[in-house]
Amino acid sequence: MAEARNPSIEHAARLLKSGGLVAFPTETVYGLGADASNPEAIARLYAVKGRPSDHPVIVHFANADRALMWAREVPDAARELAKRVWPGPLTIVLKRAMRVGDYITGGQDTVGLRVPAHPLAHQLLEAFGGGLAAPSANRFGRVSPTTAQHVRDDLGTDVQFVLDGGPCGVGIESTIVDLSRGAPRLLRPGGVSAEEIEFVLGQPLAAPDEEAPRVSGSLPSHYAPHTPARLLSAGTLQAEIARLGNRVAVLAFSAPDERVDYWLRMPADPDGYARGLYAALRELDATGCEVLLIESPPSTPEWQAVLDRLGRATQGHGQ
Ligand code: TXA
Ligand code: MG
Repeated sequence: MAEARNPSIEHAARLLKSGGLVAFPTETVYGLGADASNPEAIARLYAVKGRPSDHPVIVHFANADRALMWAREVPDAARELAKRVWPGPLTIVLKRAMRVGDYITGGQDTVGLRVPAHPLAHQLLEAFGGGLAAPSANRFGRVSPTTAQHVRDDLGTDVQFVLDGGPCGVGIESTIVDLSRGAPRLLRPGGVSAEEIEFVLGQPLAAPDEEAPRVSGSLPSHYAPHTPARLLSAGTLQAEIARLGNRVAVLAFSAPDERVDYWLRMPADPDGYARGLYAALRELDATGCEVLLIESPPSTPEWQAVLDRLGRATQGHGQ
Protein backbone atom coordinates (compact mmCIF):
# COMPACT_ATOMS: atom_id res chain seq x y z
CA MET A 1 0.00 0.00 0.00
CA ALA A 2 1.29 3.47 -0.85
CA GLU A 3 2.30 5.67 2.07
CA ALA A 4 -0.19 8.43 2.92
CA ARG A 5 0.71 11.74 1.31
CA ASN A 6 2.46 14.03 3.76
CA PRO A 7 2.74 17.65 2.55
CA SER A 8 5.67 18.41 4.91
CA ILE A 9 7.65 15.50 3.52
CA GLU A 10 6.92 16.53 -0.05
CA HIS A 11 7.88 20.12 0.68
CA ALA A 12 11.12 19.00 2.36
CA ALA A 13 12.00 16.64 -0.51
CA ARG A 14 11.42 19.44 -3.06
CA LEU A 15 13.67 21.83 -1.14
CA LEU A 16 16.40 19.19 -0.98
CA LYS A 17 16.17 18.45 -4.69
CA SER A 18 16.63 22.13 -5.44
CA GLY A 19 19.81 22.25 -3.36
CA GLY A 20 18.30 23.50 -0.08
CA LEU A 21 19.05 22.51 3.51
CA VAL A 22 16.41 20.68 5.56
CA ALA A 23 16.74 19.51 9.16
CA PHE A 24 15.01 16.23 9.90
CA PRO A 25 14.60 13.87 12.85
CA THR A 26 16.42 10.56 13.09
CA GLU A 27 16.18 8.15 16.00
CA THR A 28 19.61 9.36 17.22
CA VAL A 29 19.68 13.15 16.82
CA TYR A 30 18.34 15.68 14.28
CA GLY A 31 20.34 15.81 11.06
CA LEU A 32 20.95 18.78 8.74
CA GLY A 33 20.27 17.26 5.35
CA ALA A 34 21.54 18.20 1.89
CA ASP A 35 21.64 16.38 -1.45
CA ALA A 36 24.81 14.26 -1.28
CA SER A 37 25.13 14.42 -5.09
CA ASN A 38 25.11 18.22 -5.23
CA PRO A 39 28.48 19.87 -4.45
CA GLU A 40 26.95 23.36 -4.05
CA ALA A 41 24.37 22.09 -1.56
CA ILE A 42 27.14 20.37 0.41
CA ALA A 43 29.24 23.55 0.37
CA ARG A 44 26.28 25.41 1.91
CA LEU A 45 25.87 22.63 4.48
CA TYR A 46 29.51 22.95 5.58
CA ALA A 47 29.21 26.74 5.73
CA VAL A 48 26.11 26.61 7.96
CA LYS A 49 27.64 23.97 10.24
CA GLY A 50 30.91 25.89 10.41
CA ARG A 51 32.60 22.59 9.74
CA PRO A 52 36.13 22.35 8.25
CA SER A 53 35.98 21.01 4.68
CA ASP A 54 38.32 18.08 5.42
CA HIS A 55 35.76 16.50 7.78
CA PRO A 56 33.57 13.84 6.17
CA VAL A 57 29.78 13.66 6.55
CA ILE A 58 27.55 10.60 6.83
CA VAL A 59 25.27 9.83 3.86
CA HIS A 60 21.75 8.58 4.68
CA PHE A 61 19.52 6.31 2.60
CA ALA A 62 16.04 4.80 2.68
CA ASN A 63 17.37 1.23 2.51
CA ALA A 64 20.52 -0.87 2.57
CA ASP A 65 20.57 -1.65 -1.17
CA ARG A 66 20.79 2.03 -2.05
CA ALA A 67 23.32 2.71 0.69
CA LEU A 68 25.71 -0.06 -0.30
CA MET A 69 25.75 1.15 -3.92
CA TRP A 70 27.84 4.06 -2.64
CA ALA A 71 30.64 1.64 -1.64
CA ARG A 72 33.04 0.05 -4.14
CA GLU A 73 33.76 -2.94 -1.90
CA VAL A 74 31.16 -4.44 0.40
CA PRO A 75 32.65 -7.09 2.69
CA ASP A 76 30.37 -9.83 4.04
CA ALA A 77 30.63 -8.25 7.49
CA ALA A 78 29.06 -5.05 6.13
CA ARG A 79 26.20 -6.97 4.49
CA GLU A 80 25.57 -8.82 7.71
CA LEU A 81 25.56 -5.66 9.84
CA ALA A 82 23.33 -3.90 7.31
CA LYS A 83 20.90 -6.80 7.36
CA ARG A 84 20.76 -7.09 11.15
CA VAL A 85 21.10 -3.52 12.40
CA TRP A 86 19.70 -1.27 9.62
CA PRO A 87 17.47 0.60 9.77
CA GLY A 88 19.06 1.74 13.01
CA PRO A 89 21.64 3.86 14.82
CA LEU A 90 24.70 2.49 13.01
CA THR A 91 27.04 4.12 10.46
CA ILE A 92 29.27 1.83 8.40
CA VAL A 93 32.46 3.24 6.88
CA LEU A 94 33.42 1.57 3.58
CA LYS A 95 35.67 2.26 0.59
CA ARG A 96 33.80 4.80 -1.49
CA ALA A 97 32.38 4.16 -4.96
CA MET A 98 33.61 6.24 -7.92
CA ARG A 99 30.50 8.43 -7.84
CA VAL A 100 31.20 9.61 -4.28
CA GLY A 101 32.91 13.00 -4.44
CA ASP A 102 35.70 14.38 -2.26
CA TYR A 103 33.28 17.05 -1.08
CA ILE A 104 31.41 14.39 0.97
CA THR A 105 34.36 12.43 2.30
CA GLY A 106 36.71 15.26 3.25
CA GLY A 107 39.08 13.88 0.61
CA GLN A 108 39.27 10.43 2.20
CA ASP A 109 38.90 7.21 0.21
CA THR A 110 36.01 6.04 2.41
CA VAL A 111 32.38 6.99 2.91
CA GLY A 112 30.13 6.76 6.00
CA LEU A 113 26.73 5.18 5.23
CA ARG A 114 23.60 4.97 7.37
CA VAL A 115 19.96 3.88 7.07
CA PRO A 116 18.06 5.62 9.89
CA ALA A 117 15.04 4.03 11.54
CA HIS A 118 12.94 7.11 12.32
CA PRO A 119 9.70 6.92 10.27
CA LEU A 120 9.88 10.57 9.13
CA ALA A 121 13.53 10.18 8.10
CA HIS A 122 12.54 7.08 6.18
CA GLN A 123 9.64 8.82 4.45
CA LEU A 124 11.81 11.78 3.56
CA LEU A 125 14.56 9.55 2.15
CA GLU A 126 11.99 7.61 0.13
CA ALA A 127 10.47 10.80 -1.27
CA PHE A 128 13.92 12.26 -2.01
CA GLY A 129 15.13 9.05 -3.59
CA GLY A 130 18.91 9.53 -3.31
CA GLY A 131 21.50 9.94 -0.57
CA LEU A 132 21.25 12.74 1.97
CA ALA A 133 24.39 14.02 3.62
CA ALA A 134 23.41 14.86 7.18
CA PRO A 135 25.66 15.86 10.04
CA SER A 136 23.96 16.60 13.35
CA ALA A 137 21.99 19.84 12.94
CA ASN A 138 24.07 21.95 15.34
CA ARG A 139 27.01 24.30 14.83
CA PHE A 140 30.37 22.52 14.72
CA GLY A 141 31.59 21.28 18.09
CA ARG A 142 28.39 21.99 20.03
CA VAL A 143 25.83 19.68 21.62
CA SER A 144 23.68 17.79 19.09
CA PRO A 145 19.96 18.66 18.80
CA THR A 146 17.35 16.12 19.92
CA THR A 147 14.26 18.27 19.28
CA ALA A 148 13.15 20.52 16.40
CA GLN A 149 13.36 23.49 18.80
CA HIS A 150 17.04 22.74 19.53
CA VAL A 151 17.69 22.96 15.77
CA ARG A 152 15.90 26.31 15.51
CA ASP A 153 17.78 27.61 18.56
CA ASP A 154 21.11 26.69 16.96
CA LEU A 155 20.66 27.36 13.27
CA GLY A 156 17.82 29.92 13.11
CA THR A 157 17.06 31.01 9.57
CA ASP A 158 20.17 29.27 8.18
CA VAL A 159 18.03 26.16 7.78
CA GLN A 160 15.17 26.50 5.31
CA PHE A 161 12.86 23.93 6.88
CA VAL A 162 12.78 21.81 10.03
CA LEU A 163 10.76 18.62 9.85
CA ASP A 164 9.43 18.15 13.39
CA GLY A 165 9.32 14.54 14.59
CA GLY A 166 9.29 15.23 18.33
CA PRO A 167 12.15 14.26 20.67
CA CYS A 168 14.64 11.66 19.38
CA GLY A 169 14.24 8.21 20.92
CA VAL A 170 17.94 7.29 21.21
CA GLY A 171 19.31 10.74 21.95
CA ILE A 172 23.00 10.27 21.10
CA GLU A 173 24.61 9.79 17.69
CA SER A 174 25.00 6.57 15.75
CA THR A 175 27.75 4.06 16.42
CA ILE A 176 30.43 4.29 13.69
CA VAL A 177 32.16 1.09 12.57
CA ASP A 178 35.00 1.12 10.04
CA LEU A 179 34.90 -1.90 7.73
CA SER A 180 37.08 -0.34 5.03
CA ARG A 181 40.36 -1.93 6.09
CA GLY A 182 40.25 -5.51 7.32
CA ALA A 183 39.59 -5.83 11.05
CA PRO A 184 36.41 -4.00 12.06
CA ARG A 185 37.06 -0.93 14.18
CA LEU A 186 34.84 1.09 16.46
CA LEU A 187 35.35 4.74 15.50
CA ARG A 188 32.60 6.14 17.72
CA PRO A 189 30.48 4.35 20.33
CA GLY A 190 26.80 5.29 20.00
CA GLY A 191 23.19 4.22 19.71
CA VAL A 192 23.87 0.53 19.15
CA SER A 193 26.21 -1.13 21.64
CA ALA A 194 29.64 -2.48 20.73
CA GLU A 195 28.58 -5.84 22.21
CA GLU A 196 25.64 -6.08 19.81
CA ILE A 197 27.88 -5.33 16.83
CA GLU A 198 30.48 -7.85 18.01
CA PHE A 199 27.72 -10.41 18.39
CA VAL A 200 26.53 -9.89 14.81
CA LEU A 201 30.10 -9.88 13.43
CA GLY A 202 31.19 -12.84 15.53
CA GLN A 203 34.44 -11.03 16.33
CA PRO A 204 35.67 -8.27 18.62
CA LEU A 205 35.86 -4.64 17.49
CA ALA A 206 39.32 -3.10 17.48
CA ALA A 207 39.96 0.43 18.73
CA PRO A 208 40.81 3.14 16.17
CA ASP A 209 44.49 3.18 15.18
CA GLU A 210 46.78 5.82 13.62
CA GLU A 211 45.43 5.15 10.13
CA ALA A 212 41.79 5.22 11.17
CA PRO A 213 39.66 7.61 9.15
CA ARG A 214 39.20 10.96 10.85
CA VAL A 215 36.05 11.37 12.90
CA SER A 216 35.28 14.92 13.99
CA GLY A 217 33.17 13.53 16.83
CA SER A 218 36.38 12.02 18.11
CA LEU A 219 38.10 15.38 18.53
CA PRO A 220 38.70 15.75 22.28
CA SER A 221 36.40 18.70 22.84
CA HIS A 222 33.32 17.95 20.79
CA TYR A 223 29.68 17.92 21.91
CA ALA A 224 30.56 20.67 24.40
CA PRO A 225 28.26 23.04 26.27
CA HIS A 226 29.37 26.71 26.50
CA THR A 227 29.66 26.55 30.29
CA PRO A 228 32.76 24.79 31.66
CA ALA A 229 31.67 21.28 32.67
CA ARG A 230 33.34 18.73 34.95
CA LEU A 231 32.76 15.03 35.40
CA LEU A 232 32.97 13.96 39.06
CA SER A 233 32.42 11.01 41.38
CA ALA A 234 29.47 11.28 43.80
CA GLY A 235 31.84 12.06 46.70
CA THR A 236 33.72 14.82 44.85
CA LEU A 237 30.39 16.25 43.70
CA GLN A 238 29.35 16.77 47.35
CA ALA A 239 32.67 18.42 48.14
CA GLU A 240 32.40 20.78 45.16
CA ILE A 241 28.85 21.76 46.06
CA ALA A 242 30.03 22.54 49.58
CA ARG A 243 32.81 24.70 48.10
CA LEU A 244 30.95 26.46 45.26
CA GLY A 245 27.32 26.43 46.46
CA ASN A 246 24.81 27.99 44.10
CA ARG A 247 27.38 28.94 41.45
CA VAL A 248 27.03 25.45 40.00
CA ALA A 249 24.37 23.56 38.06
CA VAL A 250 24.25 19.79 38.55
CA LEU A 251 23.44 16.72 36.48
CA ALA A 252 23.28 13.77 38.86
CA PHE A 253 21.70 10.45 39.77
CA SER A 254 21.00 11.52 43.34
CA ALA A 255 18.11 13.65 44.63
CA PRO A 256 18.54 17.47 44.50
CA ASP A 257 20.65 19.21 47.13
CA GLU A 258 18.94 22.32 48.49
CA ARG A 259 22.13 24.40 48.20
CA VAL A 260 21.81 24.23 44.39
CA ASP A 261 18.98 25.81 42.35
CA TYR A 262 19.62 24.06 39.07
CA TRP A 263 19.70 20.32 39.50
CA LEU A 264 18.63 17.75 36.94
CA ARG A 265 18.22 14.19 38.10
CA MET A 266 19.12 11.67 35.41
CA PRO A 267 17.72 8.16 34.89
CA ALA A 268 19.85 5.31 36.25
CA ASP A 269 19.59 3.28 33.01
CA PRO A 270 21.95 4.07 30.10
CA ASP A 271 19.21 4.26 27.44
CA GLY A 272 17.09 6.69 29.44
CA TYR A 273 20.19 8.73 30.29
CA ALA A 274 21.28 8.94 26.65
CA ARG A 275 17.77 9.97 25.57
CA GLY A 276 17.77 12.96 27.94
CA LEU A 277 21.45 13.89 27.94
CA TYR A 278 21.69 16.60 25.28
CA ALA A 279 18.46 18.33 26.32
CA ALA A 280 19.76 18.32 29.91
CA LEU A 281 23.12 19.81 28.89
CA ARG A 282 21.36 22.52 26.90
CA GLU A 283 19.00 23.32 29.77
CA LEU A 284 21.79 23.64 32.34
CA ASP A 285 23.97 25.55 29.88
CA ALA A 286 21.25 28.21 29.66
CA THR A 287 21.08 28.82 33.44
CA GLY A 288 24.04 31.19 33.52
CA CYS A 289 25.80 29.13 36.19
CA GLU A 290 29.60 29.30 36.41
CA VAL A 291 30.26 25.61 36.16
CA LEU A 292 28.33 22.50 35.32
CA LEU A 293 29.01 19.51 37.58
CA ILE A 294 28.17 16.05 36.23
CA GLU A 295 28.08 12.98 38.44
CA SER A 296 29.83 10.23 36.52
CA PRO A 297 27.97 7.02 35.59
CA PRO A 298 29.82 3.77 36.31
CA SER A 299 32.67 2.72 33.97
CA THR A 300 30.87 -0.37 32.66
CA PRO A 301 30.37 -1.38 28.99
CA GLU A 302 26.68 -0.42 28.88
CA TRP A 303 27.63 3.17 29.72
CA GLN A 304 30.39 3.35 27.05
CA ALA A 305 28.61 5.70 24.61
CA VAL A 306 27.28 8.02 27.33
CA LEU A 307 30.71 8.16 29.02
CA ASP A 308 32.30 8.98 25.66
CA ARG A 309 29.96 11.99 25.21
CA LEU A 310 30.37 13.13 28.83
CA GLY A 311 34.14 12.86 28.45
CA ARG A 312 34.07 15.12 25.41
CA ALA A 313 31.58 17.56 26.95
CA THR A 314 33.94 18.01 29.91
CA GLN A 315 37.24 17.94 28.01
CA GLY A 316 39.62 20.65 29.07
CA HIS A 317 37.68 21.35 32.25
CA GLY A 318 39.45 18.89 34.52
CA GLN A 319 38.61 15.64 36.32
O1 TXA B 1 23.52 9.68 14.51
C1 TXA B 1 24.22 10.22 13.66
O2 TXA B 1 25.23 9.69 13.16
C2 TXA B 1 23.82 11.62 13.23
C3 TXA B 1 22.49 11.52 12.48
C4 TXA B 1 22.04 12.85 11.94
O3 TXA B 1 22.57 10.54 11.49
N1 TXA B 1 24.81 12.23 12.41
C5 TXA B 1 26.00 12.64 12.91
O4 TXA B 1 26.77 13.28 11.97
O5 TXA B 1 26.35 12.48 14.06
P1 TXA B 1 28.04 14.15 12.33
O6 TXA B 1 28.51 14.69 11.01
O7 TXA B 1 27.72 15.15 13.37
O8 TXA B 1 29.07 13.11 12.78
C6 TXA B 1 29.42 12.13 11.86
C7 TXA B 1 30.75 11.55 12.15
C8 TXA B 1 31.83 12.57 12.08
O9 TXA B 1 32.58 12.46 13.25
C9 TXA B 1 32.59 12.18 10.84
O10 TXA B 1 33.95 12.46 10.96
C10 TXA B 1 32.32 10.69 10.76
O11 TXA B 1 31.00 10.57 11.16
N2 TXA B 1 32.44 10.18 9.41
C11 TXA B 1 31.69 10.44 8.35
N3 TXA B 1 32.18 9.86 7.25
C12 TXA B 1 33.29 9.20 7.64
C13 TXA B 1 34.28 8.42 6.98
N4 TXA B 1 34.25 8.21 5.70
N5 TXA B 1 35.27 7.93 7.72
C14 TXA B 1 35.32 8.15 9.03
N6 TXA B 1 34.45 8.90 9.72
C15 TXA B 1 33.45 9.41 9.03
MG1 MG C 1 27.85 16.17 15.16
